[in-house]
Amino acid sequence: MGSEAFLANDIPKAQNIENVADSSQISENCIMHQLIVQGNIQNGHHIENADGFSVRRLQLSDHQKGFVELLAQLSPTRPLSQQEFQERFAELVSMGPDHHICVIEDPVSCRVVATGSIFIERKFIRGCSKVGHIEDVVVDKGARGLHLGHRVVKHLVDHAKATGCYKVVLYCKPELREFYQKCGFMEKNVQMAFYF
Ligand SMILES: CC(C)(COP(=O)(O)OP(=O)(O)OC[C@H]1O[C@@H](n2cnc3c(N)ncnc32)[C@H](O)[C@@H]1OP(=O)(O)O)[C@@H](O)C(=O)NCCC(=O)NCCS
Repeated sequence: MGSEAFLANDIPKAQNIENVADSSQISENCIMHQLIVQGNIQNGHHIENADGFSVRRLQLSDHQKGFVELLAQLSPTRPLSQQEFQERFAELVSMGPDHHICVIEDPVSCRVVATGSIFIERKFIRGCSKVGHIEDVVVDKGARGLHLGHRVVKHLVDHAKATGCYKVVLYCKPELREFYQKCGFMEKNVQMAFYF
């Protein structure tokens, strides 16, 4: 994405609550709307709720708890063997907080019912700044409408804030504009994609 498109003076401050930006999905014509959020958010990596649903970091055991099947509700995803999952998991862990995948586990079924990820990009511009890129936000069909998606996005924004990002960006389908706006994002530019 074009970094110059997101200079700070182009970006109005977000009103309050969770501030984030981004998620990427590709529309039929490969152009999508980008959403961005900037502002005052709370630090913290763990959100506990009275309903028992809490946001935590992805664990190896989530392979047995339906994590890959949940991702398949977002984008075509073939089943992964334990070894494949373990190898990719180790790669991501080696990146530390620069690559963070969170999940919400249903306390009753012990299945993963929501997830999202964020990649922290290290830049030279703006005095070696950092930008968070949110990806792969999905809530299980049977658990939508419970504000789990909102919790996941807030967690990822908080992570970006805690790691020193000055903004968070994401891409989404136009029909999800309202959802991300409710998470504190504002619309900014379009997405371009080149598929191999
Ligand atoms: C988009 C998605 C993550 C939303 O998760 P969710 O847990 O159902 O959403 P929430 O309950 O947290 O919704 C938060 C708010 O956004 C609203 N909202 C949720 N989805 C919406 C949509 N598609 N359009 C408009 N508003 C929406 C909710 O009504 C709620 O509003 P409220 O605060 O006024 O009550 C979920 O529907 C999903 O996984 N979709 C399929 C995968 C996908 O498209 N992921 C996004 C990739 S960019």
